[in-house]
Amino acid sequence: MDVQEKIKQIEAQVESAVQDIKSSKSLLEIKMRFLGKTGEISSLLKNLRDAPAEQRPTMGKVLNAFRQWTEEKFSDIEKRIKKIELDKKYSQEKLDVTVPGTILPDGAYHPNTLIREELVSVFAGMGFEIFEGPEIENDYYNFTALNTPADHPARDMQDTFYLSADLLLRTQTSAGQIRVMENKKPPIKILSPGKVYRSDDDATHSPMFSQMEGLVVDKGITLCDLKGMLDVFAKKIFGEDVKTRLRPSYFPFTEPSVEVDVSCFECGGKGCRLCKGTGWIEVLGAGMVNRRVLEGCGIDPDEYTGFAFGMGIERIAMLKYGINNMKLLFEGDTRFLKQFKD
Ligand code: PHE
Repeated sequence: MDVQEKIKQIEAQVESAVQDIKSSKSLLEIKMRFLGKTGEISSLLKNLRDAPAEQRPTMGKVLNAFRQWTEEKFSDIEKRIKKIELDKKYSQEKLDVTVPGTILPDGAYHPNTLIREELVSVFAGMGFEIFEGPEIENDYYNFTALNTPADHPARDMQDTFYLSADLLLRTQTSAGQIRVMENKKPPIKILSPGKVYRSDDDATHSPMFSQMEGLVVDKGITLCDLKGMLDVFAKKIFGEDVKTRLRPSYFPFTEPSVEVDVSCFECGGKGCRLCKGTGWIEVLGAGMVNRRVLEGCGIDPDEYTGFAFGMGIERIAMLKYGINNMKLLFEGDTRFLKQFKD
């Protein structure tokens, strides 16, 4: 068949095939059928080699012109299809900025965090600085330097998790007192919040809980300073009408030692379930820093005196928020936690 004839035939095929083009995918398929490496037009061009030499230039021209015509045809269609497809995509992806968004449930601060931050801000207002000691302590800082040598009966007051003969999980933030006094000369005024560990587990005790330690060392510090400062603390945390009282107690690292009660903020001191009818609630342990502890840290007890106090953060949170089981503070149940949203 003569080339002109063949071209006409293919041209008709192209015209009819392009009618079927509905997408970029079908465009590519149909385009390949004619212009691909093994496509109809490419084969025609290949056959040119077998044509008589004198016909080749004219045939070549005609064939190339035909190929160009086909290419332009497809490129026009391609432009049209691309535009249609893009318009379709845009209309599908149209964003209605007036549609209400998905509201993600937001969290709330844990009651422990709330109390810790409140305590920190009360004491920071009185000029205390924060010191955070390590949770893994050695025997010296947790006990010995706090006037509690190995054979001391007071070691039984706290059931200790030992990691080795010398290392343990600190049972009290009091360990931080020693770390501070060893490194800093008075005046000292630090607040030390942190986790502590004891092998203890019931409704009001957990193997891990948090304490807040306070330590003040300077010339002329007395038990009155401690009492005055605790009065301010109790009023700020539990309410303006709350009173404090000191009861004699015992800690190896303080002398004298006291237990601090606040008047019941629930019943005003008349007696209720919270204060077990006594009108008072125990909130912390405290005392004047024992001379032996000061001496051990290289501080002259004839020149300087100090007081220390330590409280359980969970206990304060439970009292303040009326939480009756400590486990609630560790379960992470959002129904419980979201009640503390401000
Ligand atoms: N460390 C004591 C305890 O955990 C509390 C305390 C701290 C007592 C500081 C006196 C002074 O029970």
